[in-house]
Amino acid sequence: MNAADLAFLARAVELAERGRGTAHPNPVVGAVVVRDGEVVGEGWHSRRGEPHAEPIALAAAGARAHGATIYVSLEPCTHHGRTPPCVDACSEAGVARVVAASLDPNPEVGGGPASLAAHGIAFEVAPHDSDAAVRARRQNEAWRTWIRHGRPFVTLKCAVTLDGRVAVPGRRWVSGPESRLLVHVLRAASDAVAAGMGTVRLENPRLDARDVPVARQPRRLAFGHGPLPAGSELELRSGPLAAELAALAAEDVQSLLLEGGPTLAAAFLEAGLVDKVMLFVAPVLAGSGPLLVGPLGAPLDLTRLEARRVGADILLTAYVNEP
Ligand SMILES: NC(=O)c1ccc[n+]([C@@H]2O[C@H](COP(=O)([O-])OP(=O)(O)OC[C@H]3O[C@@H](n4cnc5c(N)ncnc54)[C@H](OP(=O)(O)O)[C@@H]3O)[C@@H](O)[C@H]2O)c1
Repeated sequence: MNAADLAFLARAVELAERGRGTAHPNPVVGAVVVRDGEVVGEGWHSRRGEPHAEPIALAAAGARAHGATIYVSLEPCTHHGRTPPCVDACSEAGVARVVAASLDPNPEVGGGPASLAAHGIAFEVAPHDSDAAVRARRQNEAWRTWIRHGRPFVTLKCAVTLDGRVAVPGRRWVSGPESRLLVHVLRAASDAVAAGMGTVRLENPRLDARDVPVARQPRRLAFGHGPLPAGSELELRSGPLAAELAALAAEDVQSLLLEGGPTLAAAFLEAGLVDKVMLFVAPVLAGSGPLLVGPLGAPLDLTRLEARRVGADILLTAYVNEP
């Protein structure tokens, strides 16, 4: 796989993003058909029940798809679902080679490489740590976890001080206005948002997405035994965490934004149910108050730590379970 292959994969990953928000509960997928180094067709999956990225890109390429390479952000499907298998579409179009940025995590749908080989089509997948591969897996991180583990992808989000505390005495907020606005963007992009009953008793949060464009409000949950404060619109989830997550997954909740506090965060971490951590680190020393997570039984290593500035804060992102 050369630099040109990786560049075409990057384009497929970029095209996939056009299905963001509408393809759900399907993954976002993009495809690029290339013949003699020239792009002859592009496509992306926009909605469940509508064609997948590959047939759209192949239709755009027409006869030029014959002998071409198709670059896809996700391995082509082999199954007869609401639409015909994409492997068949590649074969019928006379594609010579398929290059994928990521493999399908669904054991029932996978098998694309073997099926392509049976059709005499060469298949390659991007190196695991290449930029295109990492971006392709990340862009469907919620869907991949939902498919593979039958639970939502859980992002633990917290605002934290420089001394690791989640509340500042006498102040309503830990982080700045830019961070708080970004949290509303994260809520709008999540299928569900949750807090622990400890936080609900103290703050009675709404957990809805406000002051940002919202296509669909997330489901808003409180984990614990309750009771909820009068007038709260949160859904109380009182069962064991894993069972509650499985039940939510069965209702197409692929992503859960967990907004703390420390007792619930520790319970999720100890149960292995946190996939990503997002910490808004604010330039303040609280001096006292609750720490980010309650005690953990053992240290936990995270991967792919990234930092970016948000107003006066730094947003740290890292994975507990990479997609
Ligand atoms: N900076 C931030 O981003 C942020 C975010 C949220 C909260 N906070 C702060 O965090 C503090 C509150 O945190 P907290 O630790 O007291 O409360 P919490 O973590 O919000 O909630 C704890 C409650 O979660 C429920 N729960 C459900 N399943 C559980 C399980 N498996 N294990 C343990 N608990 C479970 C229990 O409710 P029941 O008692 O009903 O069973 C428990 O009392 C406040 O100071 C708040 O300001 C900060």
